[in-house]
Amino acid sequence: MVMAEVPPRHSHRGTPRRDPLTFESPGGITGGCPGVDVGEPTQHDVTIRSRVLAPGSGAMRQSRCSHTEVVGPMKVLVTGATGYLGRAVAQRLSTAGHTVAGLVRDDLGIRTLARSGIDPVLGDLGDPSSLRAAAEDVDAVVETASADNAASVVALLEIIAGTGRRFIRTSGTGIYTDMAGGEPSATVHTEDDGYTPIPEVGSRYHSDLLTLAAADAGDHTVVMRPSMVYGYGGSEQLPVLLRAALRDGVSRYTGRGLNRYGNVYLDDVAEAYLLALERAPAGSAYNLAAGECEMRQIAADVARLLGLDGAVSISMEEAAQALGPRSAVSMASNSRVDSARARTELGWSAQGPSLVDDLTRGSYRRVWALREPAIVTEKVRA
Ligand SMILES: NC(=O)c1ccc[n+]([C@@H]2O[C@H](COP(=O)([O-])OP(=O)(O)OC[C@H]3O[C@@H](n4cnc5c(N)ncnc54)[C@H](OP(=O)(O)O)[C@@H]3O)[C@@H](O)[C@H]2O)c1
Repeated sequence: MVMAEVPPRHSHRGTPRRDPLTFESPGGITGGCPGVDVGEPTQHDVTIRSRVLAPGSGAMRQSRCSHTEVVGPMKVLVTGATGYLGRAVAQRLSTAGHTVAGLVRDDLGIRTLARSGIDPVLGDLGDPSSLRAAAEDVDAVVETASADNAASVVALLEIIAGTGRRFIRTSGTGIYTDMAGGEPSATVHTEDDGYTPIPEVGSRYHSDLLTLAAADAGDHTVVMRPSMVYGYGGSEQLPVLLRAALRDGVSRYTGRGLNRYGNVYLDDVAEAYLLALERAPAGSAYNLAAGECEMRQIAADVARLLGLDGAVSISMEEAAQALGPRSAVSMASNSRVDSARARTELGWSAQGPSLVDDLTRGSYRRVWALREPAIVTEKVRA
């Protein structure tokens, strides 16, 4: 793969389509969810709502330490707004008073956003002219469609360059995966680590560096690194494990399964994006994890949820066959992160249920426990 050149930094620190109905909807414009207690509005909700002005007036105030706080609502383009992360992020920004447009690829996307309060705008990550048109009159672009589409990152950085528009890129703590084969690691990553990723995630990390380097040239760019996101019975990693276990009648972990991965609840991710949009200094990256789990425990909980006889250990090669090479890498790896920066700089505070609670007693039980193997049709990701 050809990589764009990353300018030196100074002191800063092709996604397959997914059935939109495979997870519980995170709710309508109010951010609620049937059957899931998302809690009372927080102090932050109240603060944000109280300073809603006219949409698009997005005035910004620069404070001492280059912390830029938005004092009015912005017009925001969210890519991936029909997806798991993007829909939650778009809804949270909208609930907070921002005017949100969602990039959609087709009529299905338009229909998916109907009645959500998010305006659909046609476009495709692979078509820079459609991205340019979609981002024409916005104050910010929040990219949640793909962490791995290097070309769209380059295109979006070009589009926002020198315009004052903010750009938030979605990466992931997958950049820290270590291919430990199920062995534990004591390493907990901060965003400041001088870091060399494994080749499998090199392109993703490179896009992070490109995004952060744009801040050195004066653009307001930010990188978000959610860990294993869960909630509403959906997401990326847990459904891969659940589908494979349902299909094969066996829940698996790699090696000894003592590798640990950070995790974070979907609504807490959406809240972090809202805070980052409004408060993050240019050139910031944020790891987002509220807890972490050993993969062996997740596999055991998946087995219990589906009524299977415990979880079994498999090799990396078997994992690649069962889950696809990409998921096999994350399932065999440690990805442990420190999220102190999000808490201290953004005021982020995770509120969601723990992954184990949501998996064993919450949304995953409601969505997955009664499924039959015959209705599992999705292929493993290449
Ligand atoms: N979920 C997690 O735990 C997690 C954690 C960290 C990072 N990430 C990364 O974040 C990204 C989004 O994750 P997700 O779980 O939200 O995935 P998802 O549910 O599959 O959503 C992907 C979204 O991107 C859109 N999209 C895909 N390709 C596109 C293209 N070429 N042009 C325009 N839109 C396109 C999809 O639109 P359609 O509706 O038209 O398909 C959909 O709205 C992924 O790269 C993932 O690896 C996810």
